[in-house]
Amino acid sequence: SATAVKADTAAKSDEAEAKAKQVKYSLKFNAKNYTKETLQLDGKDVAFRAYRNVVYVSKPASVAAESMSIFIPEAYFQKGGTVNGYTKETAPIFLPNGVGGYMPGEIKEPSANDRMSGGANASLVALSRGYVVAAPAIRGRTTVGDDGKTYVGKAPALIVDYKAAVRYLRYNRHRLPAGNTDKIISNGTSAGGALSALLGATGNSKEYAAELKAIGAANERDDIFASMDYCPITNLDHADMAYEWMFNGVNEAHQSSAQMSPLLPLKSGSMPGTIKAGGQLVPLGPGPVVQGDGGMVTDRPANAPTETSAGTEMTQEQRVASDQLKALFPDYVNRLGLKDRQGHTLMLNEDGTGSFADYIKSIYAASAQSALDAGEDLSSLDWLTIENGLVKDVDLAKYAAWATRLKAAPAFDKFDLSSGENDEFGTSDNTPRHFTGFALTRDKKMGATMATWDDIRRMNPLYFIGQKGVTVAPHWRIRHGAKDRDTCLAIPAILALTLQNNGYDVDFSSPWGKGHAGDYDLTELFDWADGLCK
Ligand code: DHB
Repeated sequence: SATAVKADTAAKSDEAEAKAKQVKYSLKFNAKNYTKETLQLDGKDVAFRAYRNVVYVSKPASVAAESMSIFIPEAYFQKGGTVNGYTKETAPIFLPNGVGGYMPGEIKEPSANDRMSGGANASLVALSRGYVVAAPAIRGRTTVGDDGKTYVGKAPALIVDYKAAVRYLRYNRHRLPAGNTDKIISNGTSAGGALSALLGATGNSKEYAAELKAIGAANERDDIFASMDYCPITNLDHADMAYEWMFNGVNEAHQSSAQMSPLLPLKSGSMPGTIKAGGQLVPLGPGPVVQGDGGMVTDRPANAPTETSAGTEMTQEQRVASDQLKALFPDYVNRLGLKDRQGHTLMLNEDGTGSFADYIKSIYAASAQSALDAGEDLSSLDWLTIENGLVKDVDLAKYAAWATRLKAAPAFDKFDLSSGENDEFGTSDNTPRHFTGFALTRDKKMGATMATWDDIRRMNPLYFIGQKGVTVAPHWRIRHGAKDRDTCLAIPAILALTLQNNGYDVDFSSPWGKGHAGDYDLTELFDWADGLCK
């Protein structure tokens, strides 16, 4: 009958559509598909070829999010061409990611007028110094797949994509016109810094195999040569404790509360009362009160939580959480068994003082000393003890008051699931989840759930460093500005110490005057990389 034929035709076209959606992308790089371009840096031409929007996996969940652009200095297409002492065979490959706020990462196009620096960005400087630039887009927490409905960018998708991009480069090492795939150097800021650290720490781990296979990543190694990490928002499952170890006692937070719940409607019927938390009965106060917008702070990376100059008082519930989280940090630090360069064990007493605290002070002291040496007047800073031009001591409690608190407690795993990190650990139907038992057990809403241990683990570089079957990048450069309080300095410090204690080459410091930012010292950054690659 006519209806049966119609139904049959509809079924056939559904099938065809499904087949069409399964289109496999070739993993073979096409060296003929480029444009020739030139940008200016310091009045000089930087000429390159751009191979744009190359899909780097054969079965992308999102074609746009899993594409990369490759930029190659024009000199390498001329016979015997060199740039900065590199040839087309020796040129390192700079692999910047554009991830911020755990949102989808955009391709880091070379640019002569970067929003943050106002000048050349890292990709353009890299090209000018003879690096091949491979800039992947990366799935993020709001990425919807090409099926139009599934959230395909939740944890650990971002690291799966970054690895897939590395594998694509290796798979095409003989098709790429230039670039040494043994010298791949990742770079990122904030959530992107965390991603860069994760790539460096998890090389060739089997734990991502299923996800890599699902998107049709090339079957190649995914370890890298060096990792550049600016203010990495990493070690998320311990970042709340670290934050309160530093900021406990500072009771005004500057994160814009308007942005606290970008995804979630306010919970109706969240019940006041008491819950049992860590053996204590915790009074549940009202939610945070917004005291006017106070003026937006604008010099922050795209997709970072927004900040207002006016602070908001923490609630009683948040203060209790701060005390409890602070009390949990020493045990975590002490279990790590960290050592400084002289081999002294770094520990914390129950009250939060101790050799680890002294180590953190020494990082800030070195930062302040560099500013003093450069002629800055720091005499107004009450958290520094300065004698005869030398920084003698740092008072961390006074530092915290001076730096101010960005985030209310808990900083990352919010009881009401409202943080970007809760969203990052969300489900494929976009339901945010917890990633610490601390927050899960204090969530007042029925039915709140926790991300799987597998996913929490695979988002944290610390679980991989020193593990069998993992190739950690031999070289690391980690920066966290001395004014940055998007996460506590202890978090990048623990990453740096763990790497150092496992024998890796680590350059770690806290640049004076820098807040939550990255790529602000591009000359030094590429001097460091040249020192390793030449
Ligand atoms: C970023 C900043 C944060 O404070 C955070 O919690 C996550 C990400 C960022 O700038 O990428």
